[in-house]
Amino acid sequence: MPIPDTPLSQQIACFETALAADPRLQASGLLATLDIDTLSYALFEACSVQVDVLRADQLHPVVSGNKWFKLKYNLLQAQRDGCRELLSFGGAWSNHLHALAYVGGLLGFKTCGIVRGNELDTAANPMLAEAQALGMELEFVSRQQFRYYREAPRQLAADLRWVIPEGGDNQLGQLGAASMLLQAHAVAGEYSHVVVAVGTGCTFAGLRQALPDSVKLVGVSALKGAWVEQDMARRMRGLPAGGWYLDQAHHFGGFGKVTPDLLSFIRGFGDNTGLLLDPIYTGKAMMALQDLISESMIPCGSRVLFVHSGGLQGRRGFPITH
Ligand SMILES: Cc1ncc(COP(=O)(O)O)c(C=O)c1O
Repeated sequence: MPIPDTPLSQQIACFETALAADPRLQASGLLATLDIDTLSYALFEACSVQVDVLRADQLHPVVSGNKWFKLKYNLLQAQRDGCRELLSFGGAWSNHLHALAYVGGLLGFKTCGIVRGNELDTAANPMLAEAQALGMELEFVSRQQFRYYREAPRQLAADLRWVIPEGGDNQLGQLGAASMLLQAHAVAGEYSHVVVAVGTGCTFAGLRQALPDSVKLVGVSALKGAWVEQDMARRMRGLPAGGWYLDQAHHFGGFGKVTPDLLSFIRGFGDNTGLLLDPIYTGKAMMALQDLISESMIPCGSRVLFVHSGGLQGRRGFPITH
């Protein structure tokens, strides 16, 4: 577990040394350096704002974006505790369960996924079918049962089983998210703003821990509801108030909801820059960034790092490609 009173960088270094010693991970490509690309986009250039993109989406063909980061120290700790089985939760289109099925299998764990919706089966969508093909045992439960498990995951704890909360949102997930910039060799202090999509808030909270106070972290909520801000304020307690901002104006009606404007923005942005975005998280975050820049909330002369947290599987089923 994270070691209390030990600097973040030391905790991360300790886990990273152990990960690097595993030949299966070395061969997998999951430890590769992340690229940082500078975007060329007329609106950003007209406002004299440089936007770089942290290409976590390119890390791996199956496990892309922030997923690996939130899972990796959980896997290591499960190994250290002698666990043989990993269990977690997700919805029908869960990138998290899909990624867990892959990395868990890679490291020789049995994997189990509790899926929200007892009306579903693996034929419901390709993500679930792929997770099962990767060896994950799936259990479909009612929404009520799912809520109960999610709120009391320890109910599912058993000998030799490691339980990971939905979305990988625990202390180890947060610590892993804090390591994202290191895997890119990014010099965080060179940026005025870092922008990232927010679901559970785990990635946001981890990044905040890793950034110097001079950098403002902007999270764009993919979910609707006053509780999102309250939850984030709780997570950020004790940190300088000016160090973060949660945008709640770009959820487009709530989690998984899209509008024709959003889809047309994603299509146009891809055509103009070559950068693919998904409609659930990163498309909303990039549209928020565009609005924040045009409204000078992110002022002229800023240097922004946009964290591409992956999720491109989510493009399936939306009219985004030509
Ligand atoms: C593509 C993508 N971006 C962003 C997020 C949000 O991450 P978090 O739940 O850590 O806030 C998720 C969810 O894990 C995701 O799948």
